Amino acid sequence: MGSESSATSKKELLDQKNAEADLGGGAQRIEAQHAKGKLTARERIMVLIDKGTFEEIGKFVMHRSKDFGLDKEHYLGDGVVTGYGKVNGRLVYVFAQDFTVFGGSLSETHAEKICKIMDLAMKNGAPVIGLNDSGGARIQEGVLSLAGYADIFYKNTLASGVIPQISAVMGPCAGGAVYSPAITDFILMVENTSYMFVTGPNVVKTVTHETVTAEELGGAMTHATKSGITHFVSPNEVECLLNIKKLLSYMPQNCEENAPGVPYEAQNESRPVLNNIIPDNANQPYDMREVIAEIADPESFFEVHQNFAENIVVGFARIAGRSIGIVANQPAVLAGVLDIHSSQKAARFVRFCDSFNIPLLVLEDVPGFLPGTDQEWNAIITNGAKLLYAFCEATVPRITVITRKAYGGAYDVMNSKHIGADLNFAWPTAEIAVMGASGAAEIIFKREIAQAEDPAEKLKEKIEDYTEKFTNPYRAAFRGYIDEVIYPDQTREKLIRAFEMLENKVDVLPRKKHGNIPL
Ligand code: HXC
Repeated sequence: MGSESSATSKKELLDQKNAEADLGGGAQRIEAQHAKGKLTARERIMVLIDKGTFEEIGKFVMHRSKDFGLDKEHYLGDGVVTGYGKVNGRLVYVFAQDFTVFGGSLSETHAEKICKIMDLAMKNGAPVIGLNDSGGARIQEGVLSLAGYADIFYKNTLASGVIPQISAVMGPCAGGAVYSPAITDFILMVENTSYMFVTGPNVVKTVTHETVTAEELGGAMTHATKSGITHFVSPNEVECLLNIKKLLSYMPQNCEENAPGVPYEAQNESRPVLNNIIPDNANQPYDMREVIAEIADPESFFEVHQNFAENIVVGFARIAGRSIGIVANQPAVLAGVLDIHSSQKAARFVRFCDSFNIPLLVLEDVPGFLPGTDQEWNAIITNGAKLLYAFCEATVPRITVITRKAYGGAYDVMNSKHIGADLNFAWPTAEIAVMGASGAAEIIFKREIAQAEDPAEKLKEKIEDYTEKFTNPYRAAFRGYIDEVIYPDQTREKLIRAFEMLENKVDVLPRKKHGNIPL
């Protein structure tokens, strides 16, 4: 029979171990972490997870390696805090690397802990959120660490399209370590404290003789604007974590479910301001975000990839409380033309939405694909095909509204009726044609214009002719390619009804192992 004092001492031992684990790499390293403007792994989890709901798993796990002094230095938890909890009342799994323990480096056991929660997440159908802050492979462990990374990459891939996976990079993320976030659905970074690269500035200097800082090479703004690797940038860690919470609110728990709705009370849905949004001059830009703001539920638009390929706008929103994904050409940037980056950006977003049953709305004003050697040599063909393929393959409810230009191949690509859109609306200002009227007239009436007494007058006449025939939505509507030409102020109302009508849509692709999207 155990005495009371022995029970007390056993409780004290547990208290002591809990306290030790909570302290990670110790007070001094925590102080150093704070001095860099960074939170600790546990502090990050406290911001992310609903109060009182976090349950830790594997708190007392320790590494097994003995080489290079590792037999003398042990930390409970081994540099990563893992577990589950709730975000906005919904289950999530989370791992947070603890930079205060061996620089958050990934050991065999550290990887096992991450894999354990990924397995639980897959079996129970809930998102995984990774808070990365790590010096990469634990150098002392050699191939054991590399194997641990590979185990994670493999699980990331199997989980892709089954459960949402979100990666926040909140410190260093270098070498092969970058490939786990890269496989996940969304990457978030923090200005000035997080960076991602395959090889750091020193290796770059040695190999290519370029001098570059870590921030320039792989900082948050670099990846937000140049590479498009990060989807969200925040000025500090708390905002980054709040962005994760917001992002999750638009998505379902897994691919078998629908995204949660929010309560919505019907009201006057007319938006007269939309009647005057298209400028009289077809070459004048306007901001498609203003259209989105009128169409979506107030304050519901959450833009993804805001700083990258700004000629297309993508993001989540709600319409009458339902979660949707919006893909919109942006006439205010490069006239809304499709190019390599905008095609990649939109294709990835379309595929995320389709994976997770989030209906798609396309707002179209596109003059075509961007011409030029840069685009051709860097494979606009393959990259444009990504977007085309992504739309063709999407089986979620799909609606398009053509606000102005729908020219050439871009008309087909941007969720046209022909590639499976469910409902295609056009505003009276829509221009659906192979190309703009002046270009078209110059080509098809070249000889006639050259031979005319007054070529300029002839060109003008032909432009007017072409404009009258094609620079409108009616030819397409006569054919049924456009289901309805609508008044702009009705758009929101039409979309509310249309998405409601499509709520139970079922569409299946031909049986196959998987398609071969042009990568
Ligand atoms: C073991 C590591 C470590 C690592 C950092 N530490 N990285 N321990 N393995 N990979 C330890 C340090 O020894 C130090 O321990 C503590 O973490 C904090 O590191 P500092 O260097 O003091 O911090 P800081 O100045 O902020 O620099 C952070 C850093 C730097 C830029 C991440 O530590 C660094 O360059 N680390 C090595 C990065 C690297 O080359 N990793 C391998 C990449 S290859 P003490 O005891 O002093 O606190 C890779 C392959 C993955 O990851 C392959 C997947 C396929």
